[in-house]
Amino acid sequence: MKAIRGATTVDNDEAEEIRKSVKELLTEIKVQNALKDEEITFILFSTTDDLHSFHPAKAAREAGFFVAPLFAAVEPEIDGALKKCIRVMVLTESDNVPKHIYLRGAKVLRRDLTNIINIALDGPAGSGKSTVSKLVAKRLNILCLDTGAMYRACALKCLQQNVKPTDEKAVNKLISSINITVKHENGVQRTLLDGKDVSEEIRKPEISMHASTVSALECVRTKMVELQRQIATKTSCVLDGRDIGTNVLPNAHFKFFLTASPEVRAKRRAEENLQKGFNTPYEEVLAEVIKRDNQDTTRKIAPLKQAADAVLIDSSNMSIEQVVDFILNKIQEKI
Ligand code: DC
Repeated sequence: MKAIRGATTVDNDEAEEIRKSVKELLTEIKVQNALKDEEITFILFSTTDDLHSFHPAKAAREAGFFVAPLFAAVEPEIDGALKKCIRVMVLTESDNVPKHIYLRGAKVLRRDLTNIINIALDGPAGSGKSTVSKLVAKRLNILCLDTGAMYRACALKCLQQNVKPTDEKAVNKLISSINITVKHENGVQRTLLDGKDVSEEIRKPEISMHASTVSALECVRTKMVELQRQIATKTSCVLDGRDIGTNVLPNAHFKFFLTASPEVRAKRRAEENLQKGFNTPYEEVLAEVIKRDNQDTTRKIAPLKQAADAVLIDSSNMSIEQVVDFILNKIQEKI
């Protein structure tokens, strides 16, 4: 059994408006989900307590929904909740992936379904950003854009061409012709450098410091930020980075800044490296974490910084699941 959810609003508590809105909502759910009458097992309504003039279940019968049993309840009054709202849950035996429908004023309840939403998730290396971003994106069924991978690809190109990441003139020349693209396969990002998939190569520990160094250059940031904005304006995504909330998307719908103590982050990074087959001693990783933090937070252009309107999460004593749930709850509170 699957549940298709939906909601709509009326401007006035009038029978005719309620009839019209219920019919429109149920018809849209039926059409968008290619439902046959006999596949609808149950229709449940709830209405805000400012609607009295017509029963939504009756409106459903009048609209031709004869087969399914119907039920309607009144919701308790909640401060700040949407007014004159009719919510529905259609239970079905259909095998299709449910398409939830939010109409009229109720569109604001699910911006993720009706509009593009961007979630900025910034923070230092090893804070758990990349794992958390992927999980949040998966739960919301949107893309996850790992912006660090783009800077890593720039660093790889420098290494391949024997260009020092501090040599701005040489990097500028190299950047003008670089071709970095990302594609998503089953929700997993693949990063392409000049057409070649470098997703694994850019994860090598030696790339990290070079990426941090090269990312301080204006020519690199201008190009990468443009690419990131292009993607974010076309599709809903979680962007994992350093400057998303402050610089790339200052108007992102949701902003989080995820951090943890350098010791915890170094421990996580060392374990992560080990899993990837790189045995790097903890002390070495800690020294690099501190150095990279310093470099990323003190660079002149778009340094790593918490946006004033970002929600701070210290994950030192939190599990990945706890962080993911915290973020999803915060998002849910707002949409
Ligand atoms: O998240 P990461 O470790 O893959 O990032 C590698 C480097 O790229 C990081 O040290 C700083 C830089 N970076 C950045 O400057 N801005 C971003 N939005 C993402 C990463």
